[in-house]
Amino acid sequence: MTVYAIIGGSGLTQLEGLNIRQSLAVDTPYGAPSAEVQIGEYAGKEVLFLARHGHPHRLPPHRVNYRANLWALKQAGAEAILAVNAVGGIHPVMDSGFLCVPHQLIDYTSGREHTYFADNLEQVTHIDFSYPYSETLRQRLIAALVAENVGFASQGVYACTQGPRLETAAEIERLERDGCDIVGMTGMPEAALARELELDYACLALVVNPAAGKSTAVISMVEIEQALRDGMGKVTSTLARVLKA
Ligand code: HPA
Repeated sequence: MTVYAIIGGSGLTQLEGLNIRQSLAVDTPYGAPSAEVQIGEYAGKEVLFLARHGHPHRLPPHRVNYRANLWALKQAGAEAILAVNAVGGIHPVMDSGFLCVPHQLIDYTSGREHTYFADNLEQVTHIDFSYPYSETLRQRLIAALVAENVGFASQGVYACTQGPRLETAAEIERLERDGCDIVGMTGMPEAALARELELDYACLALVVNPAAGKSTAVISMVEIEQALRDGMGKVTSTLARVLKA
């Protein structure tokens, strides 16, 4: 049976209903992870949980120690990662509240610690990253979303920007021309690090605002926080279904 870890993003610093058995402060060669790794029972299954931005939420996307986070989860026994990410919607169907299980990504970040293989000068390692997400995990998420009967897209291209500012309208137009459907700040290097550690990885993205230029309204944190509150129930019940399946 797969040992799952859930990485909670904005709006999911705590997994409601997780019966915590143990909270592990894991030390890694890369420093401290964002928070303690919680191990417990959720939906009747053993699961690991880590708050990507810390608990309480304190780390902006470019300050998250992605290497420490993935390392800590692997060390704590995770085999598969279900990552939850809040995103802006670029494609017209990606309205606030919509969910997406991306099948591809484009990395627009810079300056983040993005590999475990930076210092090994004896052997240069290039992981295959043609398909950044585990198709098996994606299909499990998709099956759960179908059963939940919620609005979702079973594929999409995730653009990962550096943040913490939101994008300009011209940047979003460019991402759209590049073929991106959703935009967030935390999908990379997380997905690539998981691949380097040979952990299965998939993303469940919740759209929390129209991306820059896609609506006439100013994008506000109030709106984003409301969309997170409104949408997180769908996310957690979908995760519960994946675990139970
Ligand atoms: N852009 C980038 N990241 C985001 C957005 C956005 O519009 N919304 C939530 N995360």
